[in-house]
Amino acid sequence: MCGIVGYVGLQEVAPFLLQGLKKLEYRGYDSAGICELNGKLHVHKTQGRIADLECLLNQKVISGSVGIGHTRWATHGAPSDDNAHPHYDCTGNIAVVHNGIIENYQDLKTLLIAEGHVFRSETDTEVISHLIEKYYQGNLLEAIGLAIKDLRGSYAIAVLAQDSPDELVVVRQDSPLVIGLGMGENYLASDIPAILDYTRNVYILEDGEMARMTRDTVEVFNKELVPIDKAVFQVEWDPIQAEKEGFADFMLKEIHEQPKAVRDTLAGRIDQDGNLTISHDIPVSLVKGITKVQFIACGTAYHASLYGKCLLEDLLELPVETELASEYRYKRVKADANTLLIVISQSGETADTLGALRLAKAKGARVLAITNVVGSTLAREADAVMFTHAGPEIAVASTKAYTTQLACLYLIAAYLQEQLLGRVDPSSLIALTKIPDQIASVLAMHEERLRDYAQKLVKATDAFFLGRGLDYASAMEGQLKLKEISYIHGEALAGGELKHGTLALVMPDVPVIALVTQSLLKEKMVSNLKEVKARGGDILLLALADSGDFSDVGDEILLLPSTLDFLAPLLTVIPMQVLAYYAAKARNCDVDKPRNLAKSVTVE
Ligand code: G6P
Repeated sequence: MCGIVGYVGLQEVAPFLLQGLKKLEYRGYDSAGICELNGKLHVHKTQGRIADLECLLNQKVISGSVGIGHTRWATHGAPSDDNAHPHYDCTGNIAVVHNGIIENYQDLKTLLIAEGHVFRSETDTEVISHLIEKYYQGNLLEAIGLAIKDLRGSYAIAVLAQDSPDELVVVRQDSPLVIGLGMGENYLASDIPAILDYTRNVYILEDGEMARMTRDTVEVFNKELVPIDKAVFQVEWDPIQAEKEGFADFMLKEIHEQPKAVRDTLAGRIDQDGNLTISHDIPVSLVKGITKVQFIACGTAYHASLYGKCLLEDLLELPVETELASEYRYKRVKADANTLLIVISQSGETADTLGALRLAKAKGARVLAITNVVGSTLAREADAVMFTHAGPEIAVASTKAYTTQLACLYLIAAYLQEQLLGRVDPSSLIALTKIPDQIASVLAMHEERLRDYAQKLVKATDAFFLGRGLDYASAMEGQLKLKEISYIHGEALAGGELKHGTLALVMPDVPVIALVTQSLLKEKMVSNLKEVKARGGDILLLALADSGDFSDVGDEILLLPSTLDFLAPLLTVIPMQVLAYYAAKARNCDVDKPRNLAKSVTVE
């Protein structure tokens, strides 16, 4: 989730590269760099924002007219000058920028080191420059064609070679790249906003396509280096629409990014046979001998922890507790050296979460963090970290951070089962790898219907979210989404609890969002829904396909692709996010920046 730009022409590269990077800063902003080709390759890079890079460049003479640039959102290796892109090979003849994740980078790195290559960073990207060096025999396109055969994962890559001074070669796989066509100059960017001020004629590269760009030509090839006839695409978006990739709001864009985000979370962590490969994230020593698991988190991350608690309680023979970080801080801390403390935070900077973490750590707890931000305080203070790899989340209301946290929790649960109980269930991990496509199909199948249903919510003063077991944990997140962006009061209830008070508020047409995905609790839940039905409540029911007939209780029934009960929360949350989004839009709310709320709460 970084940003790439590139230029070949007659102008000096720095103004285009800097301006393009500024337009992409929303894609990543912990470090940035450029490489210009001016007889020799010169890399200039720094930790920090694009403004820091600009200061650095102001102190230099940049005269190259071929160059590449990058703004980074760290995935492998903390934000630092060394880990910033571009990355050289050993000789300084090759420079590479990369977006995406190289899943097999560790194996490749070991191999390349054994062959004598010397690495300067902790990134996965650097294996690409050394691989290209290995295969380079004077033809950059051919070398890249060979190098990508060794890579597993997602990538958009742009490469310069000192001894091929007039060309820029690029390739894409599961990470976007566009080439802007100019007169006597051509532009490269990972995202359209970066080039809109220069041209509206672009080639949009597809997966597996490569291109060789010079100032006068752009040749596109497939992976076998067979030339492809590309159609020119005319971009009609305005710059703001382009930042949101054509979506009306960042939140909607981020909702739609979830298939890719979850895929990135799983990348390199499950092999083709359904075996876990996460011991590099979580050393065995961290979990061996634990007698208790505690979760701490705030907001949406706390709701993810509720999922984690249900999951671990079911799968492990261990006590599991979860606590709001702000409460944990002021209670007697019951953690010790055999406690595994799992701290969840999108930003890794939430003050209450960090405060609670420090208390538990002082008692000797072993800390495992789940966070989206490499280099965050949480990532630095934890004993081990599992990064969600969701990419920057801009909308205040969390969406892709939540689903990727759930995916991490499922991986952790499977890992603890394996390490503590010696049990492995590859089929459940294979089911997890299907979730990204299933999220995409939930969006494709139900978005329109949910937009219509949201109209019913517009005039409501309250909406209730009912579920039992894991569905109750999901209901908590559903009600928060609705409240925070549409300002409609939402409340989550365990199905069986309704009759102990809140049923008094259920009257004709009161919206009730009912989650019925847990097989063992289905009949109980249906009985609870009959109580709602008898009072005239309007039920939107979410269930897994082929799990029963709910026509006597659901006014509107949304069937989700079938999956394991344990994984259903990764699907049920999607309609609830979409519903909240369209209810908020129908009420003309500022979806991305809800009143009174902040993305990251760094004060107590
Ligand atoms: C704020 C945000 C929420 C987020 C919570 C915890 O309240 O508005 O969306 O869930 O902080 O943030 P964290 O970064 O720790 O996950």
